[in-house]
This record gives sequence, C-alpha cells and structure tokens, in this order.
Amino acid sequence: MPSMSYQWVRLVAVTLALTLAGPTQAAGDAERGKLIGYTCLGCHGIENYKNVYPTYNVPKLVGQHAEYIVAALKSYRGKQRSHGTMYAQASSLSDQDMDDVAAYLAGAVLPAGAPATGTAPQKVSELCSACHGANGVGITGDYPTLAGQHADYLARALIEYQKGDRKNPIMGPFASQLSAADVKAIADYYAGQRPALQTVKRKSWL
Ligand code: HEC
Ligand code: HEC
Repeated sequence: MPSMSYQWVRLVAVTLALTLAGPTQAAGDAERGKLIGYTCLGCHGIENYKNVYPTYNVPKLVGQHAEYIVAALKSYRGKQRSHGTMYAQASSLSDQDMDDVAAYLAGAVLPAGAPATGTAPQKVSELCSACHGANGVGITGDYPTLAGQHADYLARALIEYQKGDRKNPIMGPFASQLSAADVKAIADYYAGQRPALQTVKRKSWL
C-alpha cells in the first residue's frame, strides 16, 4: 500500500531530521560576510547566470535560511555534494567565514505564512510539505526554502539525490520516490511560489 510506505518514510525521515539537526547556530556577522561574499557574486550576483556544463541556473540565495546555506557549504567542502567550483569555494572558507557569508548572502528570510500559489502536485503534500512547506518556505532553518528557486536547479538537485551525487540521509529516501515526471512537476510548482528567493543584488556594492 503506497500510502503506508510514504507515511513510514516520512516518519523515519522526520525522526532522522530531529536527531541530526543540532542546536541552531547563532547568526553570523553580515558586515564581515559582505567582504568574503564579494567573490561569490561573480556567479550568485548575476540574474539567471548558468553553470556551464551541465547547463542549469546557479541557485538564488537571498531569502534562504542562513543555517541551511552554512550546511550546504559544509556539504560541498566535505564532498557530500559533488560540484568542483563549489568545492573550491567552500574549501577556502573557515566555519566562521561560512557563518558570516551566509548571514550576508541570505539577507532577510522569506515569511513562513504566505498562502501557496496554485495547486500542489499530490506528492508535495504526501512527501515534501512537512519540511519545505506547501508554499516552499522551509519550516525551520535546517530545511531549505524552495519558493521561487530556479526550476532547473531544483530538478537537478533532486536528480543528484536520486543518483547519490548529493548524499543526504533525509533527502535520499524522499527523492527516490519521485519519477522523472514528478521531479519536473514539483520543481515547477516550487519555482512558482511567491514571495520568491532572489539573486544577490550587486548594486549594494556601488
Ligand atoms: C563560478 C561560479 C560560482 C561561484 C564563484 C560561487 N558559486 Fe556557489 N554555486 C554555484 C553553482 C553552479 C551552484 C550549484 C551547485 C550544485 O549543483 O550543487 C552553487 C551552489 C551554492 C550553494 C548551494 C545553494 C543551495 O540552495 O543549496 C551555496 C550555499 C553557495 N553556492 C554559496 C556560495 C558562496 C558562499 C560563494 C562564495 C564564497 C559561492 N557560492 C561562489 C556557482 C558558484
Ligand atoms: C524531513 C524533512 C524533509 C522532507 C520531508 C523533504 N525534504 Fe527536501 N530537504 C530537506 C533537507 C534537510 C535538505 C537539505 C539537504 C542537503 O543538505 O543537501 C533538503 C533539500 C532539498 C532540496 C535541495 C534544495 C537546494 O537548494 O539545493 C530540494 C530540491 C528538496 N529538498 C526537495 C524536496 C522534495 C521535492 C521533497 C518531497 C518529495 C522533499 N524535499 C522532502 C528536508 C526534507
């Protein structure tokens, strides 16, 4: 019975999430982070800038949870995520640098209470919204906000969890329950949520 196994996987993953998520970090120093973050804007500060091969949009970071940005950077540094450029970027940062640059790049966090836009694919309510919200705003700082993120980047991330190129004990089991059609429908749905994540504004440097 598929609904039983969904419930079961959700229960296991929520338990895992609660076990793995340590105490949330104190906010970093956004002023110091701005100096470190200058080098990041060459990609994250240009609207619709693309990863060259394979071709997909560089993720938006403004409005993201700072705690999640730090966790993502640590995953690139620790090679739980495979991406050459982001490995090089993250390896050059200390833990303090990561806290600070995350505080700068995230800016303000998106509001949690916004109503969802459009009708969610059924699997979103069955499998995803418990952590990412129906409106794509992660319910805690450990769960990434997906609202308004580039659809091709979201799809790429889901496929990487499926293939194991991104290793994550929570997302692996959820991504593995999605067909290619689910991946596309869910990526499009979350990309369409408003208010949306934004690209970092380079103008703030002038
Ligand atoms: C040369 C382009 C480039 C530069 C420079 C760059 N990034 Fe990235 N960044 C990317 C790409 C491409 C991805 C998506 C990688 C993937 O598919 O996992 C990414 C992913 C990320 C993510 C994951 C976002 C998410 O939603 O999971 C974070 C966080 C991040 N970068 C932060 C930074 C920081 C901080 C810097 C500067 C220290 C930086 N990046 C510099 C291209 C770049
Ligand atoms: C139990 C909580 C939980 C559930 C349920 C969950 N996720 Fe996640 N999700 C996470 C966590 C934690 C991460 C960060 C993993 C990492 O560090 O790579 C994540 C990461 C992601 C990412 C990558 C975001 C980025 O910016 O790179 C996508 C896309 C995603 N989830 C989509 C989904 C979808 C679609 C579902 C339902 C099929 C789902 N998630 C179910 C907790 C959850």
